[in-house]
Amino acid sequence: MQIVKSIAAMQRLAKKWRRAGTRIGFVPTMGYLHEGHLSLVKRARQAVGKNGKVVVSIYVNPTQFAPTEDLAKYPRDLKRDLKLLRELKVDVVFVPSDEEMYRRSKSARGDARSTNFSTYVVEEKLSRTMEGASRPTHFRGVTTVVAKLFNIVLPDVAIFGQKDFQQAAILQRMVTDLNFPIKIIVAPTIREKDGLAMSSRNQYLAGNLRRQATVLWCAIQIAQAAVKKSKRFPTAKLKSAIKKLIECEPDAKLDYVEFFEPETLLPVSTVKSGMHTALAVFFGKTRLIDNAKL
Ligand code: PAJ
Repeated sequence: MQIVKSIAAMQRLAKKWRRAGTRIGFVPTMGYLHEGHLSLVKRARQAVGKNGKVVVSIYVNPTQFAPTEDLAKYPRDLKRDLKLLRELKVDVVFVPSDEEMYRRSKSARGDARSTNFSTYVVEEKLSRTMEGASRPTHFRGVTTVVAKLFNIVLPDVAIFGQKDFQQAAILQRMVTDLNFPIKIIVAPTIREKDGLAMSSRNQYLAGNLRRQATVLWCAIQIAQAAVKKSKRFPTAKLKSAIKKLIECEPDAKLDYVEFFEPETLLPVSTVKSGMHTALAVFFGKTRLIDNAKL
């Protein structure tokens, strides 16, 4: 397994593979890998076959964090990540620095004004609701860094998790709108035994918070059961039932729960089978998200 830190070296490798007709499968991550990430890596290998190349990037992208968010304390363990990726026979791990990705001079670290970077990719429809409403600059950072990574890794296929359903929808839209010649595959959410969706941020859940966090999956299951039982269910009623359920947990605070059409992400007033739900809940200072089809 090769570890590549420079953009020029990664592009050189990718171009060489492409000239030879080798397919490239790509999994972008922010590291601190868990079974959810690893399932995407396995899916990438499946997509390109044993003669293809699988590239994983590990980069905690500063432009998708607001100044008030957890960029500085976002969990990192590169040594462990590399060990896990080696076991899966990943070909290349791309691990760029902030200086490399955002043309920031080392001495000016942390000062956004001293970067030589001023071009962003902005999706203007799907990114207005849910995560986009709660975290206004988040998706601009995601689309920008993923567009950059696509131009660096030159993949044929890229794998994203359904765990971040809105992110995957926005990136699919970006690829379509801007004609990236890349196939996007969205892979299912991997969960802990008790239903909690795996997330690098779960490790913030100290003591009692970990148990309280199972309420996310309970809420989704209640919505699924309601739709199964009565076919059509008023959204407002379901929203208030879920808010009540969540707020039974002493440290949980609902940020949003939405019911929407999976293609457009537009909210619906009546919930039916085939529609989608997504929610974000604070457990203390930790904000977790989850979603599922109904
Ligand atoms: P990160 O949170 O590290 O997630 C990397 C990929 O893993 C994303 O596609 C995400 O949806 C997927 N993933 C996370 N938890 C999962 C789970 N439990 N089951 C299945 N897949 C899961 O998402 C990002 O990083 C960043 O925004 C990124 C796309 C890398 C851009 O910086």
